[in-house]
Amino acid sequence: MGFSDYRTALVTGASSGIGAATVRRLRAEGLEVHALARDHQRLARLAAETGCRVCEVDVNDLTALTRLARSAEFDVLVNNAGQSRRSNIRDTAPDDVDAMVDVNLRAVLHLTRLVVPDMAKRDRGHVVNVSSIAGHYAFGENATTFNSSVAYHATKAGIHSLSQQLRVDLYGTRVRVTEIAPGRVATSIFQNQNAADNPDARFVGAFETLQSDDIADAIAFAVGAPERMNVAMIEVVPTFQVVGELRFASRSEAARLKEMRSGADNA
Ligand SMILES: NC(=O)c1ccc[n+]([C@@H]2O[C@H](COP(=O)([O-])OP(=O)(O)OC[C@H]3O[C@@H](n4cnc5c(N)ncnc54)[C@H](OP(=O)(O)O)[C@@H]3O)[C@@H](O)[C@H]2O)c1
Repeated sequence: MGFSDYRTALVTGASSGIGAATVRRLRAEGLEVHALARDHQRLARLAAETGCRVCEVDVNDLTALTRLARSAEFDVLVNNAGQSRRSNIRDTAPDDVDAMVDVNLRAVLHLTRLVVPDMAKRDRGHVVNVSSIAGHYAFGENATTFNSSVAYHATKAGIHSLSQQLRVDLYGTRVRVTEIAPGRVATSIFQNQNAADNPDARFVGAFETLQSDDIADAIAFAVGAPERMNVAMIEVVPTFQVVGELRFASRSEAARLKEMRSGADNA
């Protein structure tokens, strides 16, 4: 299995950030790519640029997802659409809990249920689930600095768990499952205006982050791997981001550490 064995892909959350970068990457590998999101204009621009097919669908719309799943034989499914809300459990709004559970978890389960059985029948396919390091670790500074919440962490932990169990359900088939767990990427999901205004922004505030292309490359690595190889999980974090907590060296901190190191070398 590899790019040459796959013909058609479905990427959710394709109108911006990691999803749009993944559409570009998979198109460059020659796949027919169905790009799903709600924003008509962004999808139209992406289609004009890459030749992808536009699926203007809300992932909460189960009827539309069902129709879409029946419309093509998808070899690659990238479950990437996601939302985040900033809150602490003391002040979490009911709508925010629902939005995150619906988009980040419920829709992924439904789309997986709709697309994967057919992959298993054809004995060919690859499911890529974009989770987050938030699904693996608790972050001390989360709500204040990183615009996230307990509900976001819980839904991403769900994606981790469903990815593991899906591999059990697919045991004996050539359908592969990959979980991609990014650290901080410069996109607009965490209400980062910096990235929303400038998709090439290297920094979120003072923090040097990953780019969407970095995650698209990780996805391409997993999908393009040889048939015998299932890349089960990739955790990708910025070099300056400590894993297991959310400690992050800022630009000034990095400069200070560099000065300290060169001082030590010269001593
Ligand atoms: N950026 C990070 O630091 C980071 C870190 C870890 C994990 N992630 C994960 O990466 C994934 C992609 O996020 P991103 O960072 O690339 O942010 P982004 O640029 O905000 O992308 C989110 C995408 O999800 C789509 N989406 C949201 N609600 C939807 C709905 N109801 N129906 C259909 N599409 C919907 C959005 O499109 P429309 O608004 O057009 O529908 C958009 O294309 C998410 O699952 C996120 O949790 C991101």
